This record gives sequence, C-alpha cells and structure tokens, in this order.
Amino acid sequence: MQYRHAPAANHAALDAVLASAPGRPTLPVRLTVELAGRARAHLPADAPLTVWDPCCGAGVTLTVLGLLVPGLARLVGTDADPEPLDLARRNLALLDPGGLTARAADLDALAARHDKPSYADAATAARTLVPASTPAWSVAPADARDTAAVRSALAGADRYGTGPDLVLADLPHGHRTTWAASPTRPGAAEMPAPAAGPARAAGPVRAAGPARAADDDQDPGVEFLRAVATVLRPDAVVVAVGRGRTVPLPGGVRPLDRVRVGHRAAVLVRAGALREG
Ligand SMILES: C[S@@+](CC[C@H](N)C(=O)[O-])C[C@H]1O[C@@H](n2cnc3c(N)ncnc32)[C@H](O)[C@@H]1O
Repeated sequence: MQYRHAPAANHAALDAVLASAPGRPTLPVRLTVELAGRARAHLPADAPLTVWDPCCGAGVTLTVLGLLVPGLARLVGTDADPEPLDLARRNLALLDPGGLTARAADLDALAARHDKPSYADAATAARTLVPASTPAWSVAPADARDTAAVRSALAGADRYGTGPDLVLADLPHGHRTTWAASPTRPGAAEMPAPAAGPARAAGPVRAAGPARAADDDQDPGVEFLRAVATVLRPDAVVVAVGRGRTVPLPGGVRPLDRVRVGHRAAVLVRAGALREG
C-alpha cells in the first residue's frame, strides 16, 4: 500500500503517552491515520466527523485519531469486554482541555516516586503533543452485534441525532482479542486463535478466493459488519482491519477500497452497501 494521507513520522511521543492493555495489540499509528484519510475521501469534505470504534479496547485507535486528525467532532468507543474501557477513558481524556498537561504532571510524580527516567521522558513527550482535534467522546460496553445495546450507546453520545460518519474497527484476532460469544448465534463465535503462518489467515480474515459468499456469511467478521451497518446511515463509511490477506465482505458487496500492509488487511465499505448485501 502507498501511504497517501499519513507521511512517515516519528510517533515516539505518542507511544510514550498512550496506555495500552498488555497482550492487546493496537493498530500502528501511521496505518490508523492513513485509513481515516482514505475513508474521509468518501465523506463530505470539511464536515466535522463522528467516529465510532465498535471494538475500541483501550481506545488507542480513537485517541490516536483525536491527537493526529483534525476535524473530529465526536468519538464513540464501544467494546463487548468492559475490562479495557477504563484505559480507553484514560486515553481519551488526553484530548480534553488540559488532559495532556494533567498526564504530564502524573508522569512527573511517577518519575520522582520511582526514580525512573522513562516516566520523565514520557512527561516531556506529553508536553510536546497538541491534539489536532478536541472532540467530545464517550465509551460504553456493548457487543457490536447487539443492535439494541449499540443503539443505546450511540444515542447517548449523539446530540444531533446524525449518528457516526465513520467506523474504524481493528477486528479481534489472536489470543487476547477473540470475538465475544455471538448474541444472535449463541456458542457460534468465540473464535480460537488460529495458528500463525502465511497460509493460515487469522481471526475473521481469510484468503481471497472464488465462491466465498456462503462461507463468509458464517464468518464472525461478516456478522459483525452486517450488524454494525444496521445502526448506521447508508452513506457512513465502515473501515475494518484484520490479519491475513483480506477482510471478507458479505457476498456481492463491493468495497470502496481495500489495502494490505504487512500481515494486516483492511476494507473500506459504505454502510448502505453492507445493508443491501
Ligand atoms: C484488536 S482489539 C482492538 C484494539 C483497539 N482498537 C484499541 O485501540 O485498543 C479487538 C477488540 O474487539 C473486542 N471484541 C471482541 N468481540 C467483540 C464484539 N462482538 N463486539 C465488540 N467488541 C468485540 C475485544 O474485546 C477487543 O478489545
């Protein structure tokens, strides 16, 4: 993939300041910004955006967007697992007025208490960052396939009733980020971590090939995309990232864009296309 929206940059300051849950991998910063830029090209220019991460985990993806991407009005994070949501709140609070200053003061105190230069370095990093956006944000537990729970989380965060413009989801994969049990097909999901290796695509991602529609309709990633689309405006753009060669779509649905970077693949698709597919 050629980066069109995210020039190469040193994001060490960001890495020092963001908190991530051990064992829960997060999207690379540059890829996050690139995918948001590509999605934005399919949305009205200059409109302030509401972004929803339905698998928000520790909120790293959303916070990176707030720190680096201008024009974001609202960020909403939901996750089936409530455990990482406190971390998500802590990360997203960096976008509040005074949030980075408060984090720098906390890190200074830790540096003094533990005599650890790494905390002092992180405090310096926090002082160098200026958020590109200062969005309102909210975080709530919700399984992305539980439409009622998701609608309620989104409605609580939506003052204007317009809903999300952009969904950016790093799909579950691997040991710590398996799919939650399906609320619609009990016992069907809970995908075990597949063996690593180039021929064995991980989690919801699998090798491209002909005649995938029937199989893919059983795929938890496809179930996820269909469910997410039901709560979105048809013109909203959904970006899903997975591991492996491709991210499957429901049979017959045409993507807006597809990209591959290293062992990750991403698909950009209009919510309306997912609802019709
Ligand atoms: C790869 S992690 C996402 C990391 C996240 N973007 C971040 O910045 O920290 C995938 C997340 O999907 C969540 N998840 C699994 N099944 C889910 C479901 N059915 N609905 C919503 N979230 C789910 C997991 O709990 C995990 O936090």
